[in-house]
Amino acid sequence: MEKTLLITGGAGFIGSHVVRLFVKKYPNYLIVNLDKLTYAGNLENLVDIQDSQNYVFEKGDIVDRDYIIGLFDKYNFDGVIHLAAESHVDRSITNPMEFIMTNVVGTVNLLNAAKNSWKDCYESKLFYHVSTDEVYGSLGNEGLFLETTPYDPKSPYSSSKASSDHFVRAYGNTYGMPFVISNCSNNYGPNQFPEKLLPLFINNIRNNKNLPVYGDGLFTRDWLYVEDHAKAIDLIYHKGSNFETYNIGGFNEWTNIDLIHELCKQMNAALGVAEGTSENLITYVKDRPGHDKRYAIDASKINKELGWKPSLQFQEGLGLTIDWYMSNQNWLDNVTSGDYKNYYKKQYS
Ligand code: NAD
Ligand code: TYD
Repeated sequence: MEKTLLITGGAGFIGSHVVRLFVKKYPNYLIVNLDKLTYAGNLENLVDIQDSQNYVFEKGDIVDRDYIIGLFDKYNFDGVIHLAAESHVDRSITNPMEFIMTNVVGTVNLLNAAKNSWKDCYESKLFYHVSTDEVYGSLGNEGLFLETTPYDPKSPYSSSKASSDHFVRAYGNTYGMPFVISNCSNNYGPNQFPEKLLPLFINNIRNNKNLPVYGDGLFTRDWLYVEDHAKAIDLIYHKGSNFETYNIGGFNEWTNIDLIHELCKQMNAALGVAEGTSENLITYVKDRPGHDKRYAIDASKINKELGWKPSLQFQEGLGLTIDWYMSNQNWLDNVTSGDYKNYYKKQYS
């Protein structure tokens, strides 16, 4: 094998798309997927590539320092693409400590293991940290997040991701460890756990359940199809400059309520029900505490320097997403049995 790469969180939503892309595109790379298989991790996401010659799955916890050191000894990685994280803002509000452990302590464990394993050969190595636009805080009606925008995280989730970004840069600055960081906007697409807005609402519509819109519904997010994010990660890993940050975004801002109306329209068509049927499920509920008003990314750096841009228009990406969930209702049924019911009750009752 030409290279051995560690991808963390590869059984999750974005990670599974990154693992698939790398396993298929780089038959000469050994791809080691390390995942704890929390509620968000699901090996069903990877059945199509699980028997590939250049793919290995390792079940483990990035918070377990000795285990991570042992994994670096076992594989002698050339690079890391780090996606493992606790990723849902609402869960970070009820249980911030889990986020500090995985997102901060877990990231520092990986950095330490990489430092010890790579210290004499940094020039051929790369630590790629996958982060979020939420580290920049919340925008008013105007403006976009640039790579130079000062960090101003406002939720326990975004604070833990900001902290992990700082540690990655500190390892670059202090020890010379080559790194790249990308900060991406909201992803959507197949395999996203139905706690995030779009899959939650798709699942609720198919079950004829209320669609809980937080606050006035006028919060704005920029949406990117997950496979376009995976392609950007591939490009940055191979062509990005070390010690740099790249913002990734969809050039695709929506207020939540407009997005939900678009989803309802497409779901009515997919289910073959009358116009207005899904819309009748919209229910305004209590707002999320500290809810960030608007995220919007200026992705011109990655566009100019690496030639990346989103390949899909939103309507098309949303159609593909709905098709996937409607054709994989067993996947939805499996992930919404058990603990999900307790989560849903606590979060929405
Ligand atoms: P996800 O919650 O779907 O998946 C996270 C994965 O990490 C799961 O497979 C889980 O089992 C694994 N994991 C969690 N804790 C772990 C631990 N302690 N040890 C090992 N594995 C562990 O998340 P996602 O939406 O795919 O996000 C992936 C990354 O991308 C995260 O770092 C997130 O901050 C970032 N990101 C997400 C979005 C988005 O819109 N979803 C946008 C920008 C950046
Ligand atoms: P989410 O998918 O949780 O992503 P993030 O908070 O990381 O942007 O939420 C997207 C938007 O949808 C956000 O403004 C919160 C809102 N939202 C609801 O209105 N209702 C819900 O049940 C959920 C989960 C989110």
